[in-house]
Amino acid sequence: MGRRATRLLSGLVLLTVVGAGAFWWLTKPAPWDATHWEGLGEPDLADGERVFWAGGCTSCHAAPGAKDDARLVLAGGRPLKSPFGTFYPPNISPDETAGTGSWTLAEFGNAMTRGVGKNGEHLYPSFPYGSYARMTVKDINDLWGYMRTLPKSANVAPPHDLPFPYNIRLALGGWKLLYLTDAPRVDVNAADAKLARGQYLVEGPGHCGECHTPRNALGGFEADRWLAGAPNPEGEGRIPDITPGSKSIGSWSASDIVSYLETGFTPDFDSVGGSMVEVQKNMAKLPASEREAIAAYLKALPPS
Ligand code: HEC
Ligand code: HEC
Repeated sequence: MGRRATRLLSGLVLLTVVGAGAFWWLTKPAPWDATHWEGLGEPDLADGERVFWAGGCTSCHAAPGAKDDARLVLAGGRPLKSPFGTFYPPNISPDETAGTGSWTLAEFGNAMTRGVGKNGEHLYPSFPYGSYARMTVKDINDLWGYMRTLPKSANVAPPHDLPFPYNIRLALGGWKLLYLTDAPRVDVNAADAKLARGQYLVEGPGHCGECHTPRNALGGFEADRWLAGAPNPEGEGRIPDITPGSKSIGSWSASDIVSYLETGFTPDFDSVGGSMVEVQKNMAKLPASEREAIAAYLKALPPS
């Protein structure tokens, strides 16, 4: 090989190494500094229970088919279909070996808001930390306290069933770089306490956008179509538009939305179906003021 070719080649190798290094540096797991989780004091367990229902943890982490009190056993293993493959949410019960019994608050908090696992690995955003990233440290501390009072399970969930390249956790850093943000999704009048509360619940713990907002090919939200409806990952039909521009709920009053979230009945006495059934059960456990805040926020959204 001539000198020029050798130099060109080593230049390319160097570029690739620098490029890979830069990618790694930009996208490496980024937990909060330890001080972020210090000094939070004793958790408020009643508040933690409220956060638990708002966050819908049991919808994904309960065992397949679990009903009533069995929904409090976060044993994992319920298949979660997505365009990228099937995820099996893990056991997050307080069991020391199979679950999160040996985790610290900081480890839990970094999983919830930074998508970083106990061993420092990137977590898949099918765990909706892209929404939970908006949760306050107080809510995380209270939730963690409450979760530690729940029953233990020794169940081990099956591994995720994901084809190449989606089985490579390292690549999730690229997704985070593009899409992980705790910025507001839309502008609403944050001076209105009820709207601000609704925004927090819907965009944060309630993670409503994870189902109701369409995504691009890389799994990021289409930012200008917030809550405007999306294909159903389970295959059938669409997940409805829930903005004021919606053909169905566009004509609902705020109190129609409140009563749907509380009872599961639409104004035409149809009952809630599909993956919204679990969400509605969780919403029914919240104080009425929380459902009212959610409805006020939905009514204040820009129409699709
Ligand atoms: C939409 C489904 C879904 C919901 C809702 C959900 N999770 Fe998860 N969760 C997952 C999936 C899937 C994983 C696995 C992610 C991975 O392997 O990278 C996971 C992982 C986790 C982990 C990391 C566990 C480990 O062993 O690494 C924790 C902690 C966790 N979830 C807590 C919660 C809490 C608390 C809530 C409620 C506030 C919640 N999750 C709600 C799907 C969900
Ligand atoms: C796991 C996916 C999922 C999540 C998360 C979710 N939804 Fe839904 N939602 C659905 C599906 C599916 C339907 C359609 C239900 C049906 O067919 O009866 C629906 C329907 C609705 C409707 C009725 C719309 C209509 O046209 O009938 C409202 C209102 C609603 N959701 C609000 C919310 C709010 C508020 C949140 C967050 C607290 C939320 N949803 C979170 C899947 C979800």
